[in-house]
Amino acid sequence: MTPTATWSYPTSIRFGAGRLSELPGACAEAGMTRPLLVTDRGLAALPISARALDVLRAGGLAAEMFSGVDPNPHEGNVAEGLRALRDGGHDGVVAFGGGSALDLGKVLAFMAGQTRPIWDFEDVGDWWTRADADAILPVIAVPTTAGTGSEVGRAGVITNSETREKKIVFHPRMLPQVVIADPELTVGMPPAITAGTGMDAFAHCLEAYCSPHYHPMSQGIALEGMRLVAENLPRAHADGNDLEARAHMMSAAAMGAVAFQKGLGAIHALSHPIGAMHHTHHGTTNAVVMPAVLDFNRPAVEARLARAAAYLGIDGGFDGFRAFAVDLNRRLGIPESLTALGVADPDMDRLVASALADPSVGGNPVEMTAATTRALFEACL
Ligand SMILES: [Fe+2]
Repeated sequence: MTPTATWSYPTSIRFGAGRLSELPGACAEAGMTRPLLVTDRGLAALPISARALDVLRAGGLAAEMFSGVDPNPHEGNVAEGLRALRDGGHDGVVAFGGGSALDLGKVLAFMAGQTRPIWDFEDVGDWWTRADADAILPVIAVPTTAGTGSEVGRAGVITNSETREKKIVFHPRMLPQVVIADPELTVGMPPAITAGTGMDAFAHCLEAYCSPHYHPMSQGIALEGMRLVAENLPRAHADGNDLEARAHMMSAAAMGAVAFQKGLGAIHALSHPIGAMHHTHHGTTNAVVMPAVLDFNRPAVEARLARAAAYLGIDGGFDGFRAFAVDLNRRLGIPESLTALGVADPDMDRLVASALADPSVGGNPVEMTAATTRALFEACL
């Protein structure tokens, strides 16, 4: 039987140092005159956010900033952002920042004209068809980290603060119309965030590459994405001003998110509930659980990861790849366990139930059960 699949490719990406200057033109092309710049509180205090706002205003746009974005954005941030969007009469969103700001910005533009509550649009079956697509505002995405790849994604992750679960809100039209990928914006990122976000990009590529679904385009993108991270993340971590390494990491981040259309897996299934319940950094959590997940998946991915090792110039097949991942974590100063990351007194039953309910589970090459998932968490603690 010949394979069948549904593929979609990302959006227009203006890539390169200094291209933030093209932001007003991109907004105008998207039909915006009053964009709302959505960013997080930490970033709002840094000069790059002021610069983005200046660039927009100098380009003749009546832009305002909203920075009520928590590290794991929740429905309260959505409600506050929607008030800012509607009260200001904004006609589009410039999502500016890391995963949290990009996701919230995209969700605000999506929710702007909807009448149903946000959880009605969770990424379950065809729930996205419940949305009024004509009421979705345009989004321009400007990533300032290199990891999440949310700038080329069609979903936003919002935490339900009642159930403390991360929910994926999905709509095809949530994809930003234009991405401004300017690596100069990532130069000021501190080493720990460079490491954590960079390992999120690596985890996206790795899990997409290992997922059993048929998607050879994503497979190729994931492989080259892993090579870009392997060669450039240690450089960007050691010298934040290495613009070439920063640029390659920005590419790898977008590639990871394109690749994970093919699927994610146990790394994200474990990391999502840990992040939701213990407020850990998403990419850093992925990096911590990666070696244990590689061991768990070994029976299904040994030959495949030996091919990846060969492409990355790593000796020793699967074992060499695993040793490389452990060494990469060590070089980046990633904690060796979830306990060292700060996860104390975990509610194991809840973690296991939440991991097994995570949409990433379906992309893992080895089936996850309650028993194996509990053992995986224990191996990571
Ligand atoms: Fe991720």
